[in-house]
Amino acid sequence: MPAPQHLRGPASSFSQSRDTAVIAAPTLVAAVVWFALGSTDLVALAIGLAAGVLCAYLIARHWIVQVKALARWIIGLGGGDESQRPAVVFGSPLEWIMWPTLDLARRLKRAERLSTLHARRLSTVLDALADPVLLVDQRSMIVEANAAAQRTFNIERAGVPLTRVTRDPGVLAALGSVLATKVASSVTFSPIDDRLKLFAASIAPLENPDGGNGAVIALREQSEQLMIERMRSDFVANASHELKTPLAAIIGIIETLRGPARDDPAAREMFLTTMEEEARRMQRLVEDLLVLSQIELAARRPPETRVSLREILDGTLARMRPMAEAARVRLVLDMPPDLPELMGNPDQLHQLFGNLIDNAIKYGGPDKEVRIEVRVLEAAPPSAGPVANRRAVEIAVVDQGEGIPPEHVPRLTERFYRVDKGRSRKIGGTGLGLAIVKHIVRRHQGHLAIESEVGRGSRFAVLLPIPPEPCHESVTQSS
Ligand SMILES: Nc1ncnc2c1ncn2[C@@H]1O[C@H](COP(=O)(O)OP(=O)(O)OP(=O)(O)O)[C@@H](O)[C@H]1O
Ligand SMILES: [Mg+2]
Repeated sequence: MPAPQHLRGPASSFSQSRDTAVIAAPTLVAAVVWFALGSTDLVALAIGLAAGVLCAYLIARHWIVQVKALARWIIGLGGGDESQRPAVVFGSPLEWIMWPTLDLARRLKRAERLSTLHARRLSTVLDALADPVLLVDQRSMIVEANAAAQRTFNIERAGVPLTRVTRDPGVLAALGSVLATKVASSVTFSPIDDRLKLFAASIAPLENPDGGNGAVIALREQSEQLMIERMRSDFVANASHELKTPLAAIIGIIETLRGPARDDPAAREMFLTTMEEEARRMQRLVEDLLVLSQIELAARRPPETRVSLREILDGTLARMRPMAEAARVRLVLDMPPDLPELMGNPDQLHQLFGNLIDNAIKYGGPDKEVRIEVRVLEAAPPSAGPVANRRAVEIAVVDQGEGIPPEHVPRLTERFYRVDKGRSRKIGGTGLGLAIVKHIVRRHQGHLAIESEVGRGSRFAVLLPIPPEPCHESVTQSS
């Protein structure tokens, strides 16, 4: 660093010669006093020496006071306070120290300001990212977690070990290798408190401010893809299992008919009946699977046709009555005379109410009543998902059956989920009815609420939103 302008030039050489004179002054004073009083007089020598020592003391004291003031000022500079600058003698050695120190302090302050600004900009950029990002040091401590990471993993901004996010050995090994080799790596892992989630982590080396090795871990959640993959493979496994069971029964019967029952007309008749039942079950299953895939295809396209709920329910009930009579169940429709029109797909709505009434008849038991209660809600309850607080029609199918134990209720709309697998199969259920209901309700931006009490019965309520400006002409055609 070149010397500042105020340290160069004539002032500098002037102060050097003056300081030499100041240091020589005590000796000079002693010599002058000694000569003035006579060279042989010891008293004169003593006075001369005393005067010299006094001068030296005064000069030393002067310097000590100045050095102390300078030290105090330098300490103040460390804290950013420039105001306590000492009044040092112009051109003195203390001035040589003072100006470069001030210059250095100002440079440090500027560098510190820049570094704070960079750190703040980095934090702002990291927080603006939707995906979690973690900066870690060589001890695998998180030195910075962006807002998304804090939210996702419920951690503080800094000072927590990476093991609070994951203990996955794959991640820890990949991080160790990045820290040791400074070569980027990537790995997938699940956080410790949520095994259903999956994250892809890209780990890159990063130099720490203290010079040590660190790393940046950029994460991307892949749970949705994972869930879709799991659901797809579960679905294929379940569907093939559901098809295999009746198929195995049919193959077994064919073998029996060709073998031991070949010449037994009574057994043949019985086996053919079973074969027909199994074949029909397979047919129903395939039909339901097709319905499900069609609803899923249109899932993101809300229906655009205005429909009359009264016509839909009347149609569904007319279709279901023979089944209800056969099961000795009384169907009761409780519907207000004026019902607003809804936006809907008539075929799907028929299917939706048909499935709920079919279940109520099947699981409600004989000599009971199944009620279809319809009412208009000026504001649906806040728990009603997409219909919450909106004007809606509630269509509840209420039975007096044996009810459903509470632990099963949240899973009823899963594909192939049944409370009692054997019983449902025996009465011809595919386990897809409520899954179809859920998808139709979802497509209609509605909400399904299931309430059940063991021993008393169940209530399946569908809430469908009422469009803001009801049209008075009803059209019932497929959308
Ligand atoms: N009203 C009800 N009362 C008691 N249990 C019910 C009722 N509705 C549904 N369930 C239970 O929920 C399960 C799933 O119903 P879902 O309609 O999806 O399938 P399923 O009726 O067995 O077959 P299907 O595909 O023919 O409708 C049923 O197996 C049954 O155990
Ligand atoms: Mg059903």
